[in-house]
Amino acid sequence: MKIFLDTADTQTIRELSEMGLVDGVTTNPTLIARTGRKFEEVIKDICTLIDGPVNAEITSTTAGGILEEAHRIRQWGDQTVIKIPMNREGLKAVWRLSEEGIPTTVTLIFSVPQAILAAKAGARYLCPFVGRLDDISSEGTSLLYDITTVLNKYPEWDCEVMAASIRHPLHVVEAARAGVDIITIPPKVIDQMLIHPLTDKGIAQFLKDAELCYTK
Ligand code: G3P
Repeated sequence: MKIFLDTADTQTIRELSEMGLVDGVTTNPTLIARTGRKFEEVIKDICTLIDGPVNAEITSTTAGGILEEAHRIRQWGDQTVIKIPMNREGLKAVWRLSEEGIPTTVTLIFSVPQAILAAKAGARYLCPFVGRLDDISSEGTSLLYDITTVLNKYPEWDCEVMAASIRHPLHVVEAARAGVDIITIPPKVIDQMLIHPLTDKGIAQFLKDAELCYTK
């Protein structure tokens, strides 16, 4: 399984890269806006920080506009992946870009039928949102099991499932149990995953006892 960071914060990407935790990055207009910086500047920056895929989301609403944006973004770095919302115009662009060998992520997927169409259209990554389904009392992680079950039957669809809208560590655990290829995790959730009170207690006790027998 690969871990992508779901953030546009370059300092955080730099820090977490030092733990070998960053196989890629996902951004979207909301995450870019939080940085207070311009879209192009942030994506180009991130491309200098990691070797893996850097997802940059388009905002055009027509297939033609998406294609123009996609070709412009691809000039910002070879590892850019074009992130495209799940709709009719988006899938038209996904198909054209897949024919050109340009990788795409279809985002805002909330059902298995949507995932099937996105895979068939040639998406490189499928991005089902877990947390936003939970928000409306629908089981987000169940969707992950359903999508992976279907995709595993059709290996000819060369795409990977990237679980997104991850809100806490148990979403990560369930996504891993569902066998997704990638989980794109907000830095806050990485921080939550790292810590445990018994670990802190154990480290404190070891350090205390070491003072009696370890030579400095
Ligand atoms: O990658 C998509 C993710 O950023 C959305 O998360 O918490 O806004 O549903 P959230």
